[in-house]
Amino acid sequence: MRAVLVGPPGAGKGTQAQILASELSIPKVSTGDIFRANVSGGTELGKQAKAFMDRGDLVPDEVTNAMVRDRLAEKDAQNGFLLDGFPRNVAQAETLNKMLQEMGRSLDVVLELKVDEEEVVRRLSGRRTCRSCGHVQHVVYNPPATEGVCDSCGGELFQRDDDREETIRHRLDVYREQTAPLVSFYEKEGILVAITATGTVEEVTERALAALKGKD
Ligand code: AP5
Ligand code: ZN
Repeated sequence: MRAVLVGPPGAGKGTQAQILASELSIPKVSTGDIFRANVSGGTELGKQAKAFMDRGDLVPDEVTNAMVRDRLAEKDAQNGFLLDGFPRNVAQAETLNKMLQEMGRSLDVVLELKVDEEEVVRRLSGRRTCRSCGHVQHVVYNPPATEGVCDSCGGELFQRDDDREETIRHRLDVYREQTAPLVSFYEKEGILVAITATGTVEEVTERALAALKGKD
C-alpha cells in the first residue's frame, strides 16, 4: 500500500503512523523525524532545516522533495510506504505524483485525521519525545511509567522546541494556509478518506484500519 497521512500538527499522525506501518508491514516515512534526526546529528541537511523548524515554518520544497525522493528510492519502500508529514502543500503533492509516475506507481489512499484546534494545543503542549528513539508520549494522555523516561527504550524524554504555545499557533496557521488545501486536492483525485482522530489511540487506530481496508 502507498498511503499518506494528512492532518494538523498534533492530530496523532506520528503516533498512528508507527502503529499502522507495523500493522500493514510497510515502512513509515516521516519527514519531521528525518529532519529532527539530521538536526541532532548536525548534518548539512539538519543545518538547512533547523531555523525553519524552530519557527514552525515549512522547510523549503527543494530540500524536502530531494530528501523524500532519496528515501522512497530505498529498497524497503519499493512495495509500499506510509508517508507522515509529506506532502505538506500542493506543490509537494504534485512533485510526489510525478516521482511516483516516474517509478510507474501511484498513491493508493490519503487518510485525513480530523481534530479541532483546542485539542491540538492540549496534545502538543503536553507532548514529550524520546531523545534516543523518537517515541512520542504525553504527560496526561500517555504518561511514561517513570517521569521523563521513555517507555519504549528508557531514553530521556524532552519537549520539542516547536511545541511552545506561540509556535504551536503559528504551525496551525501554516497548516490552514498551506497544508489544508491538500484535502480538496486529493478529494478531486478520488483517493481521500477522513476519520475523526479524537478518542483513545486504540480507537483511532481501529477507525484508520477500517478506512484503509481494501485500498491497496
Ligand atoms: P512534523 O514532525 O511533521 O510535525 P507536525 O505535522 O507538526 O506533526 P506533529 O509531529 O507535531 O504531530 P503528530 O500529528 O505527528 O502528532 P503526535 O502523534 O506526535 O514536522 C515538524 C517540522 O518539520 C515542520 O514544522 C517543518 O518545519 C518540518 N517539516 C516536516 N515535514 C515537512 C515537509 N513535508 N515540508 C516542509 N517542512 C517539513 O501526537 C501529538 C501528541 O498527542 C503526543 O503527545 C501524543 O502522545 C498525543 N496523542 C496522540 N494521539 C492521541 C489520542 N488519540 N488521544 C490523546 N493524545 C494523543
Ligand atoms: Zn525511546
